Amino acid sequence: MSEETMKEDIKTEEVSKRIEGGWAPIKKEYLLSKEELEALNAEKLHEPALEVAVERDDQKERKRGQDKRREKKMVHARNDMRNASIRLCPSVLLKGRICKFGNKCTAEHSIEKFMEQKPQDIGPECPSFNQMGKCQFSFACRFGQAHTNGLEQIEKEPDPSYKPTMNTNYSAIQIAMRKHQYDFSRADKIVKELPDPITAMEREKPKLNMRDLSGKAYLAPLTTVGNLPFRRLCTRLGAQITCSEMAVATSILQGNPSEWSLLKRHPSEKVFGVQLVGGYPDSMTRAAQIITDELDVDFIDINLGCPIETINEKGGGCQLVIFLMY
Ligand SMILES: Cc1cc2nc3c(=O)[nH]c(=O)nc-3n(C[C@H](O)[C@H](O)[C@H](O)COP(=O)(O)O)c2cc1C
Ligand SMILES: [Zn+2]
Ligand SMILES: [Zn+2]
Repeated sequence: MSEETMKEDIKTEEVSKRIEGGWAPIKKEYLLSKEELEALNAEKLHEPALEVAVERDDQKERKRGQDKRREKKMVHARNDMRNASIRLCPSVLLKGRICKFGNKCTAEHSIEKFMEQKPQDIGPECPSFNQMGKCQFSFACRFGQAHTNGLEQIEKEPDPSYKPTMNTNYSAIQIAMRKHQYDFSRADKIVKELPDPITAMEREKPKLNMRDLSGKAYLAPLTTVGNLPFRRLCTRLGAQITCSEMAVATSILQGNPSEWSLLKRHPSEKVFGVQLVGGYPDSMTRAAQIITDELDVDFIDINLGCPIETINEKGGGCQLVIFLMY
């Protein structure tokens, strides 16, 4: 072994050690030499500070204005695109359903006319049809040829590997909640019996066997990032315990559809929990009750670290820890 390679080996070993210790290595080309750094600092010292500040404010103003205009333009462009392309009214696909917009409906009601004007398919195989045996997008599907025969939709047996997503059937619960007809007496009783102030309490027997969880890879809750498709990929790559994105307890209790969709679970998620955020025992217990009573969930995780202001203003996330401390 030459001296050079020996030196290289020692270096690599040192780098590996540092990585293990939690250091993040930076590529050589992104590092500044001492001289370069000094030159940069000297340059900064000679910058006319006031001028820079004015210029920056100016730029900010312009940027803000620009962003607003661009946003509006984007909305117009999206609407123009929507209006220019042919859309099939969903009422046509539901037997016996009459379009509630009547003559004012801007979508097409004739399947024949729609098919004549519809843009070409983007592929020969429809993944939904292949897996589920039918496609919810029907004639409007951009892989529609795969499951369309003239004016008819074809259905077949689902693929044997297909397992439907869990925790999706909740429209009846949402309606009951909106009508204030859901029975929350179980949650309300618990809150009523809470000692005031809340002190150490008898621990509930956990539903999960903690020993079974020991050593398993747990995918932490990740707002926006940790959505269902992402978690599906993670379970394929070895995650054994997964958690939903953070769901706001009060939005769950309002039956907010986008919040409820956060609770969906894929069958590959063998141990799955829901993370709730909120600041008050009444809404948190009610949300926990409805989730555990109606859905297939193994645990509820309470968020104690979210730094988002709108959440903290309502006593949730890291604000809850402050509540608990004082
Ligand atoms: C994009 C993003 C979103 C996150 N969302 C949540 C969340 O909703 N709830 C939560 O408890 N933690 C959330 N976290 C924190 C992570 O769960 C995790 O605790 C944190 O990233 C530290 O772990 P790591 O060092 O493995 O990244 C989030 C982190 C990131 C980066
Ligand atoms: Zn219509
Ligand atoms: Zn399709």
